Amino acid sequence: FQDRVIAPSLLAADFSKLGEETSRAINAGADWMHMDVMDGHFVDNISFGPAIIQTVHETNDIFLDVHLMISRPDHYLTRFIAAGSDSITVHVEADHDVAETLIRIREAGCQAGLALNPATPIEAVIPYLDKIDLLLCMTVVPGFGGQAFMAEMLPKIKAAAELRAEKGLSYHIEVDGGIDATTAAQCAVAGANAFVAGSSTFKAPDMAAAIASIRHA
Ligand code: DX5
Ligand code: ZN
Repeated sequence: FQDRVIAPSLLAADFSKLGEETSRAINAGADWMHMDVMDGHFVDNISFGPAIIQTVHETNDIFLDVHLMISRPDHYLTRFIAAGSDSITVHVEADHDVAETLIRIREAGCQAGLALNPATPIEAVIPYLDKIDLLLCMTVVPGFGGQAFMAEMLPKIKAAAELRAEKGLSYHIEVDGGIDATTAAQCAVAGANAFVAGSSTFKAPDMAAAIASIRHA
C-alpha cells in the first residue's frame, strides 16, 4: 500500500486560499498535487493556467501532477514547464503530434503522462507506451469534479497493466474521476497505483482519514 500514490485534485480546493489548501493536503498525507487545466475547448469548462501552477510551486514543496485538458498542449507546453510542473499529462485525443509532445516533456526533465478519455480504446495509446512515465485512465468524462465513477473503465485499466507487464515497462497507471476508498479498491485490483481524488479528499470532514482510506482500501 505504501507505493500507492494519492493525488488530491486542486479543482476541489477552496480557490480563495490555494497555498493553504495545498499545505492542508500535504499535512494530510498527499503524495502529489493533481492540477486540472481546462481550456473551454477540449472540455466544456475553464479552470486555471500556468500562473496558478507557479503559485502552488512557489508556496509549497510537493510533486505537481499537471493534467492538461487542452486542445493544443504543444503550444502551451513551455509555459507549463516553466511554471514548475513535475509531471505533465497530455491527452491522446488532443490536436498535436503526441510522440513529439511526450519527447519534449521528458527532455525538459519532467515526467511524461498520456491520458485517455472513457470513449477512447486502449489501442490508441499503444504506440506511445515506451515514451511515458504515467498512463492516465479517465474514469469520468473530463470537465468537472464530483462526477460518478464509471466502473466500465475497469477492463481498460486491466489491459493497461497487462500491456505494461508484457512490454516490461514501468509507467504509473493513474485513475481520475469519482475516486474514493471504494472505487480506488476496484481500480487497484485492476492494476492502478496512482489515485486522483478531488471531492473525496478536499471536501471530506477529515482529509487525512480520507487519504489514508484510499491508500489502504
Ligand atoms: C475531471 C478532472 C478530475 C477531477 C476529479 O475532469 O480531470 O481530476 O478533478 O474530481 P473528483 O475526484 O471529484 O471526481
Ligand atoms: Zn484530472
